[in-house]
Amino acid sequence: MSASRGEFSSRLGFIMAAAGSAIGLGNIWGFPGQTASNGGAAFVLVYLILAFLVAYPALMVEYVIGRNSKSNIVGAFGKISGGKHFKFVGYAGLLCATLILGFYSVIAGQMLAYGVSSVLNLIGLNAAANWAISGTTLPSMIFMVIFSLMTIAIVTGGVKNGIEKWSSRLMPTLLIFIVALIAFVFTQDGAMQGLKVYLVPDFSKVFEPSLIVSALGQAFFSLSLGVGTMLVYGSYMRKQDNLVTTAALVTLADVGIAFLAGLLIIPSMFVAEANGVVIYDQAGNLISNDNIVTQVLPVLFEKFGTFGGILSFLFFSLLIIASVTSSISMLELPVAHAVDDLNVDRKKASWVSGLAIMIISSALIFFKEELFGLVITIATQYLEPLVGLLLCIFVGWVMNRNTIIAELKQGNEGVEHSFFFMIWPLFVRFVVPVIILTIFALSFT
Ligand code: TRP
Repeated sequence: MSASRGEFSSRLGFIMAAAGSAIGLGNIWGFPGQTASNGGAAFVLVYLILAFLVAYPALMVEYVIGRNSKSNIVGAFGKISGGKHFKFVGYAGLLCATLILGFYSVIAGQMLAYGVSSVLNLIGLNAAANWAISGTTLPSMIFMVIFSLMTIAIVTGGVKNGIEKWSSRLMPTLLIFIVALIAFVFTQDGAMQGLKVYLVPDFSKVFEPSLIVSALGQAFFSLSLGVGTMLVYGSYMRKQDNLVTTAALVTLADVGIAFLAGLLIIPSMFVAEANGVVIYDQAGNLISNDNIVTQVLPVLFEKFGTFGGILSFLFFSLLIIASVTSSISMLELPVAHAVDDLNVDRKKASWVSGLAIMIISSALIFFKEELFGLVITIATQYLEPLVGLLLCIFVGWVMNRNTIIAELKQGNEGVEHSFFFMIWPLFVRFVVPVIILTIFALSFT
C-alpha cells in the first residue's frame, strides 16, 4: 500500500502545493469582501492576529498528524495510538470537504464563466458573452462541470505529476497577475482613498463580535483547515523537511496573497466610484462579497474598452488559477481515503469522487435559494471549526507526546529547544481550543 502512496518531490514543491491549496477564492474573493463588509482595516488587523495565533498552530496540528500517520484523515485515526475514538472526526472532515468542494465548484464555475465571457466580448460575440454570465441554470451547470473536470484531470495525475506539477506552474503565474493588476490600479484616480479604508483601522470596530466571528472563519477557510486537506498534504511531505518553518512559510504565503488581494480589490472599488459606479448599498455600507466581483469590477472593466477586456480576462484567470489549485486539494481527500484505505485505483477514485461531488454541485445550482447559503453556513461556520477543534484536542491531549516530538524532530533536530516548542504545545492544549470555543459561543449571540 505505502508503495502506491505519493510524495512531494521537494520542499519547494510541497510549499507550492500547500500554498496553492490555501490561496483560493477565500483570499481573492472572500477576504476583500469580508474586509469591505466589516469596516475595512479593523477586520484586517483581527484577521492577521487570528491567522498567526490560531490558524498557524492548527495547521501544525494537521501536518503532525498527517506526516506521522502517512495517511488521510480517516485512515490516520486508525493508525495513531488512541485514535480509534476519533474516527468520527475523520468522517466529519471528509463530509465537510465534500460539501465545501460542492459549493466551491459552483462559484469557481461562475468565475470561469466571467473569464470566458471577457474573451467572447473581445472577439465581438457579445450575445454569447452575456449568456455565459447570465447566472441561469444551463450556463451555471456547464461551467461548473468544466471546472470540475479540470479538477479531476489534475488529481488523476497523482501527487507529483498532478498536484505538485500544476501548483508549481500556476502559483508563480498567480503572483505575476496579481502584482500587474495592482500596479495598474494604483495609477488610477480614487485608488488612494481605497488604500486608506483598507489600511487605517477604526479601532472601535475591533471588538465587534460579528467581526471576530467572521475573521476566525475566514482564517480557517483560507488556510484550508478543519477538514483534513492540510493533513493529507502533510502526509505526502518528505521526512527530512522541517515542519515548523515550512508551515510558517505556507501561512505567510496565504496571508500575504490575501493582503495583496485586498490591496487590489478595495482600491479598485474606489477607482470604480471615481468612474461613476455605485459602491455603497442603501444602508451606506460598502458593497461586499460576490457583488464586488460580479457587479463593481465588470462595470469598471467596461469603462476601459478593449484594454478593460484584457484586464478582465487577467483578473478572472487569476481567480480560476487560485480556485483550481484549491479544489484539487479538496478532491484529494476522498481520493486519498479510497486509495489508502479501500485499495481503489487512483484514477477510478478521482472520477467516482469527482462525479459524486458534481452531483452535490448540481443540487446546489438547482436549489440555489434553499440550499446554497445553508450548505456554506453548515460547512464553514460549524463543521470546519468543530473538526479543527477536535484535531487540536487530539494532538494536545490524546496523541503520545514522544511521538509528536519525534515527528517534529525529523528535519528539525533542535526543535525541543526552540521558541516554537516552548509555546506551541500550550497553544494546542489551551489557547486555541479556548479561542475557538469562545468565538463559537459568540456566533450564537
Ligand atoms: N483555502 C482555500 C481558499 O481560500 C479553499 C480550501 C481548499 C478549503 N481546501 C479547503 C477551505 C479545505 C476549507 C477547507 O479558497
